Amino acid sequence: MRPLSKAKAGWLLTAMLMVSATAGHASPATDPLAPTGRWTASDRGNAPTPPMGWNAWNAFQTDIDETKLMGSAQSLVDLGLAKLGYVYVNLDDGWWLKRRQPDQRMQVRAAAFPSARDGDNTNFRPMVDRLHAMGLKAGIYTDLGRNTCSQAYSPNGPNMPEGSTAEREVGIYDHVDGDIRTYFADWRFDYVKVDACGITDYTADRPHMKPYGYRVFDPIMFHGRPALNKNADIRALYQQVSDALAKYRPDNDYVFSICSWGQGDVRAWGKQVGNSWRTSDDLYPQWPRMLHNFDSASTRELYSHPGAWNDPDMLYVGAGDFDEAHLTEARTHFSLWAMIDAPLLIGYDLRKATKPLLDIWGNADIVALNQDKAGNQAVLAYRSGEIDILVKTLADGRKAVAVFNRDSQPFTATLTAGHLKFDATAPVTLTDLWTKEKQPPFDKELKIKLAAHETRVFMADGTRSLPQGLYLSEMTGRINVADDGVVAPEPDPEAFRTSSWGSTQGGGDWPVYTGWGGAQPDASPYSTGLAIGTKGFASGIGILANSRMEVRANAEFKRFTAEVGVDNATRNRSARVKFLVYGDGRLIAQTPPVGFGDPSARIDTDVSGVKIVELVARSSSGDAPVAVTWGNAALSR
Ligand code: GAL
Repeated sequence: MRPLSKAKAGWLLTAMLMVSATAGHASPATDPLAPTGRWTASDRGNAPTPPMGWNAWNAFQTDIDETKLMGSAQSLVDLGLAKLGYVYVNLDDGWWLKRRQPDQRMQVRAAAFPSARDGDNTNFRPMVDRLHAMGLKAGIYTDLGRNTCSQAYSPNGPNMPEGSTAEREVGIYDHVDGDIRTYFADWRFDYVKVDACGITDYTADRPHMKPYGYRVFDPIMFHGRPALNKNADIRALYQQVSDALAKYRPDNDYVFSICSWGQGDVRAWGKQVGNSWRTSDDLYPQWPRMLHNFDSASTRELYSHPGAWNDPDMLYVGAGDFDEAHLTEARTHFSLWAMIDAPLLIGYDLRKATKPLLDIWGNADIVALNQDKAGNQAVLAYRSGEIDILVKTLADGRKAVAVFNRDSQPFTATLTAGHLKFDATAPVTLTDLWTKEKQPPFDKELKIKLAAHETRVFMADGTRSLPQGLYLSEMTGRINVADDGVVAPEPDPEAFRTSSWGSTQGGGDWPVYTGWGGAQPDASPYSTGLAIGTKGFASGIGILANSRMEVRANAEFKRFTAEVGVDNATRNRSARVKFLVYGDGRLIAQTPPVGFGDPSARIDTDVSGVKIVELVARSSSGDAPVAVTWGNAALSR
C-alpha cells in the first residue's frame, strides 16, 4: 500500500479532530503531527555548546603525522586556547594504512604515527591517552562508504591507504559496529567526523576507478543533482553510526559530526541524528566561498540548538583571503561563525601561530557568544546585498549584534532598537567586542561605519520590548522543528551567491542544498517578511502548514500568545489551516480553520507549569505548500 501523503494525512486528521472536539492525542505512529509531549530531537552525544578545537585538514590535508598533530595540540595548551574551550584535536583524512584482512581490523599508518605501533597490530590509544592527559579530547575521521574522499580526489597524494582493494576499503560501510567499537571503546576517541565521498564518488565511470581498482559503489548521493539523492538511505546509514556510538559509549560523552556537505536533506534531519552537520560543500580560503558557506547556515536558525549545530565547515582563519594580510576578513569570518553557533575548529598549523591570528581565535568575548549556553543561533534581523545584521539573544537576556558588510566598499549601516527587539524610547548601549570600546548610549538608531568586508560585533544593553517574556524568535535554541511541513525537498536559493572555486565556468553554482521552505524566525519559509493579509510582523515564526514545533518552556512561563494565519507567501491560496497548541501533550488552544486573506486569529493561552509547548498547523489541502505565520509568538512570565 502506498502510504498517505503527509498533506492528505493532515487533512484526514483535521477532520477526525473536528469530530472529537477534545482529541489531544492521535497516535504518533499514524500521525506525524500528533503531540508527543516531549522533546524529540536527538539527545545523544555531548555538545551542549558548539564543539571547539583544531582539525588537521585545512592545514595539512592528508600530509598529517603525529608530530604535526601533537605539536598543534601542545600549542592549544601553551597558547591558552584550550582554556578558552578549544579542546578537540581532530584527525582528518590520511591517518589510515589499511583494513587488515581477514579480520577487518583497521590499521593506523604507524610510520606517521609511531606511538600507534603495537606489535603486529596498531593502536591509537597511547596517543589518545596523551591528549586526554593534556586536558584535551581526540577526534577521528571516517567515511560513510567503503572508500574515502582523498582516494577519489587525490589518489596520488601522500598517505593513501595501501594494499589490495579490500585492504584499501577503509570506510565504515558494512563495518559500522566493528569500526566504532575500535575507535570509541578501544581507542577512546571522543569525536568522529563521518564524510560521504564513499557513497557518491565511486561510480564505474569515474577516472580513478580503473587505475586504482576500487570497488564500484552504487551511489545514493549525486553531486549537483539533489533531486536524485536517496535521502532516507543516507540518513539511515548515518543513523547506524549514531546507534553504534550509543552502544559503545554509553557515557554519552562524544560528538558525532556529519559531513554530507548539505546533501541528503541533512539540513533538515541532522539534528535528529548527529551533533553537527555540514550545511554546504567545503570552505575554501576565498571571500566569496566564505559568503556561500555562511549563507548555507545563516537562515537555518531553527534547526540548531544545544546538542545540534549547523556546520558551515571549519575555520580558515590564517589562510588565503583570511591570512595576516587580511585581518578584517579574518575577523569577519570568525565573528560570523561565532554568531551562528558554528563549531569553531581551527584549521591552521598552530606551531606557527602569530599574535594577530591568536588575537582572533583568542578573543574571549567573541568565543563567549558562540559558547553561550542558551544556544540561540543569531537571527538575521536585516539582510541586503551589502549588509547583514545578526542578533543573538544570550542566556541572560542580553543581545549580541553583528553588523556585517558583505561588500567591497565601505558602508554606513543603521542599527535600530527594533533590530534588537529593544524599546526605542529607552537608551541602548553598545560595547564593541573587537576594540572593547563602549559607545555613548543611543535611542531609536545609530549609524555604524564599516570598512569593506568589516564586521563589527557589539554587546547590546537596552530594554527588551517584551520585558516579561521572549518572542519565540529570541529563543530558537529552545525550539525543535519536529516536522517542518516540507514534503518535497527543494534546493535553497539563499546559498546561491558565489563564483564557485573562483571561476565563472558553466552556468554558475546552482543551488543544491535542500531545505527551501523550511521554518524561519522573523521571516516566511520563502524568505519574505512575515505578513498575514495587510498586517506585517517583525517577530514570529514562518513555517509551512502540516508542521509541528516543540518549544522548551520548562515551566518558566505563564502565557503563550500569537497572532496566526496563512502568510501571504503561501503557494496555496485555497487551503484552510487550523492552529493547535498543546501543553505537555494536552490540547490547550486551537483556532477555527483560516485561509489566505483572512485576518490573523489570536491565541492567548495559559501555559503555567508546562514543560513542552507544541505548535501544530494543520492544513486541509496539500496541493501546494501552505505558508503560515505564528506572528508575535511569545512566551511570557
Ligand atoms: C571532504 C570534507 C573535508 C575533508 C576532506 C578530506 O569531503 O568536506 O572537510 O574532510 O573531505 O578528504
